[in-house]
Parts: sequence; structure tokens; C-alpha cells
Amino acid sequence: MPHDHPPPRPRAARRGPFGLAAALVAAAALAFVAIEPASAEYGDVVINNYSDAAGVRPVVFPHWFHRVRFRCKVCHTDLGFKFQAGGNDINMVKIIDGQFCGACHNGTLAWSVENCDVCHSGKPGTETHVHESTVRKLVSPK
Ligand code: HEC
Ligand code: HEC
Ligand code: HEC
Repeated sequence: MPHDHPPPRPRAARRGPFGLAAALVAAAALAFVAIEPASAEYGDVVINNYSDAAGVRPVVFPHWFHRVRFRCKVCHTDLGFKFQAGGNDINMVKIIDGQFCGACHNGTLAWSVENCDVCHSGKPGTETHVHESTVRKLVSPK
């Protein structure tokens, strides 16, 4: 069918530079909303039930780093990690016995427990919690 009139220009093209800026701000806001819920699940977990009291630095568990290498099921079903920051009553005897982190950090699947500082890397006094800073840094407008 022949076109008697040129097709209407897309809305964005008619908005001018201010419209484009507004669209970018809106897109950034949407991206933030979309990413935010994931950070609660995949953010680093600081574990400090015993560390401070025992005179070692709190443990920082990089959840995302592990999650891209293993399926959820490996840890949360097969190895029995409960879905709760600090909820697993982990200690070094259990780790050296091959439980929890020790199922992999045994010098075979991953580097072994001698590397204390790689796990005990938190700032002294940091309480047990899920730390979301990695994702926040990526999307924060500041
Ligand atoms: C693969 C990670 C990992 C490595 C490596 C590791 N730890 Fe731990 N450690 C943990 C976790 C997780 C906990 C539990 C933290 C908590 O709840 O405070 C813990 C707890 C502890 C505790 C307090 C509880 C207890 O069992 O007495 C001490 C002390 C400790 N670690 C010392 C060490 C020392 C010393 C080394 C090196 C020889 C080491 N850790 C290596 C993960 C690790
Ligand atoms: C390499 C092991 C590992 C893998 C793989 C893994 N997790 Fe975790 N997850 C953990 C550990 C360790 C904790 C913290 C437990 C603790 O502090 O005792 C945790 C904590 C959590 C929590 C609780 C966080 C909170 O708010 O308290 C959720 C939810 C969770 N994981 C979901 C997942 C999902 C979904 C996947 C797969 C996409 C996954 N995990 C993959 C080890 C793992
Ligand atoms: C299912 C296996 C598995 C479990 C369980 C596991 N890890 Fe790991 N972890 C790995 C592997 C594999 C690596 C990468 C090793 C390498 O690069 O050589 C790693 C690396 C790490 C790193 C270094 C991350 C980096 O940026 O290089 C830390 C810290 C760590 N693990 C802490 C922990 C702690 C704490 C726990 C227990 C709460 C734990 N891991 C449980 C497999 C595991």
C-alpha cells in the first residue's frame, strides 16, 4: 500500500536532548530496580559468629564469585548450607573435617585452610550480614 504521508517519527527522536536525558535517567532507575533484588541473594556474606571473640578477622564469603562457578544445589543441598547469613554454626574443626567451606578448600578442589587471611579478610568488628556493596557500586549514581 502506498504511503501518502511520511511515517510519524519515533517519539524519542522528537523529544530533543532533554527528553533523551530524561529517558536515560528513567532507564538507570529501572536498571537499579532490576538489579537490587539480586544483590540481597548474591552479595558477599560476612560471617562473624566466633571470629572477633577468637581474635581473628571476620570471614568474608564472596557469594557471587562462588555462585558463578557452582550451582546453588552444590552448596545449599549437597553440602547443607542453610540460606541464612551466619546460620550454619561453622568453625575450623568442621572445616578441617571437610564440612562447609572445607568440602572444597582442602588443597584439591580449591586452595586449603592454611590461607587463613583469604577467608578471614573482614574488618574487625564487622557484624554478620549480607554485604551488597559490589552491586551498589556498579549502579550507584554517585
Ligand atoms: C576457607 C575459608 C577459611 C579458611 C582458609 C580459614 N578459616 Fe577460619 N573460619 C572460617 C569460617 C567460615 C569460620 C566461622 C566464622 C565465624 O562464625 O565467626 C571460621 C572460624 C574461625 C575461628 C573461630 C571459630 C573456631 O573454630 O575457633 C578461628 C579461631 C579461625 N577460623 C582461625 C583460622 C585460622 C588460624 C586459619 C588458618 C590456619 C583459618 N581460620 C582459615 C573459614 C576459614
Ligand atoms: C559455594 C557455595 C555456595 C553456592 C554455589 C551458593 N551459595 Fe548461597 N550461600 C553460601 C554460603 C556459605 C552462605 C552464607 C551461609 C552462612 O553465613 O552460614 C550463603 C547464603 C545464601 C543466602 C542467604 C543470604 C541471607 O540473606 O542471609 C541465600 C538466599 C543464598 N545463599 C542463595 C543462593 C542461591 C540462589 C544460589 C545459586 C544461584 C547460591 N546461594 C549459591 C554458599 C553458596
Ligand atoms: C563448592 C566448593 C566451594 C565451597 C563450599 C567454598 N568454596 Fe571458596 N572457592 C572455591 C573455589 C573453586 C575457589 C577458587 C579457587 C582458585 O581460584 O584457585 C574459591 C575461592 C574462594 C575465595 C577467594 C575468592 C577470590 O576472589 O579469589 C574465598 C575468599 C573463598 N573461596 C572463601 C570461602 C568460604 C569462606 C567458604 C565457606 C563459607 C567457601 N569459600 C566455600 C570453592 C568453594
